[in-house]
Amino acid sequence: MYGKICGTGSCVPKHVLDNEDLSRMVDTSDAWIQERTGVARRHIIEDETTVSMAVEAAQRALENGNVRAEEVELLIVSTFTSEILLPCAACEVQKRLGAVNAACFDLNAACTGFLAAYQTAQAYIAAGSCRTVLLIGSESLSNMVDWKDRGTCILFGDGAGAAVLRAEPGEVPLTVMHSDGGAGGALTLQSRHQKNRGSGLDAGYIQMNGREVFQFAVKRVPEVIQELLEAGQVTLRQVDYFILHQANKRIVESVAKRLGADIEKFPMNLQEYGNTSSASIPILLDEMNRDGRLKQGQTIVLAGFGAGLSWGAAVLKW
Ligand code: UT7
Repeated sequence: MYGKICGTGSCVPKHVLDNEDLSRMVDTSDAWIQERTGVARRHIIEDETTVSMAVEAAQRALENGNVRAEEVELLIVSTFTSEILLPCAACEVQKRLGAVNAACFDLNAACTGFLAAYQTAQAYIAAGSCRTVLLIGSESLSNMVDWKDRGTCILFGDGAGAAVLRAEPGEVPLTVMHSDGGAGGALTLQSRHQKNRGSGLDAGYIQMNGREVFQFAVKRVPEVIQELLEAGQVTLRQVDYFILHQANKRIVESVAKRLGADIEKFPMNLQEYGNTSSASIPILLDEMNRDGRLKQGQTIVLAGFGAGLSWGAAVLKW
């Protein structure tokens, strides 16, 4: 048995912060941000929270998949930005959805989190532990960004995406995941709530060596996609879409180029939302599902990368 995605949903905050707004906050410009990242706007929470966006995205995914909340047997929230740490965000989402039969936990693999959750769901389904899984990536990165640091604040946005998986007969789709904790210093976030946190000066804010992360992404993402396709005996031409974590337009373009694949197969929505970490892949999946770009039988590659450092890819049939 394997898990087939039967429904998707998403939720982004109403409030929009565009590049002009940002250029009044830090020394930057719309032209610089668009050229270096492709981001034009991002949606930023006001009344919304990580959990409230997760609930809305989940409700839409359940409705889209024609699945009742009580049918969900496993509920995973991928996040590192939840407003509550105990209970886990997934239990709070369970309560608000009425998903009373679900086992719930959160998972943190940063921007690779949705892929880690997807792989976990497949393993549970293949083991016969459950038949219906709700996966959610939800992030309020605006809470974790230093709005005086132009090197990071221009990149990120808030939002949530969700997918429902149902068990169907068939082989588990291939996923490949990697981590390199030794290189983790390139992208970090220290908790504000730890006594023993070193200097702690920047605790609570995302710290990033942008160039290092960029170089890591443009090398590792094509590599892991190639590894995945070889293991699954799938050719580049057979893939209809490569749905990449939406971090930077130049990263996506460079991955397409290094793979020798048509850029038209790499949909992007980062211009509207910025980098929403583990929410970016399910938000884009939902957009493409609802506007009809995703059609039954298509071959889709998902690929994520980020803090850890971590990276991974999955191939699935829509
Ligand atoms: O989910 C994964 C999360 N992280 C990422 O995906 C980040 C990957 N990295 C990137 O996207 C890029 O490295 C950035 C967009 C963050 C930066 O772009 P870059 O082309 O690597 O720029 P840079 O850091 O090499 O900086 C080039 C110049 C510097 O000025 P000097 O030293 O050449 O005078 C920076 O100070 O651009 C300056 N700069 C800016 N200028 C205007 C850096 N940020 C800004 C800014 N506006 N926002």
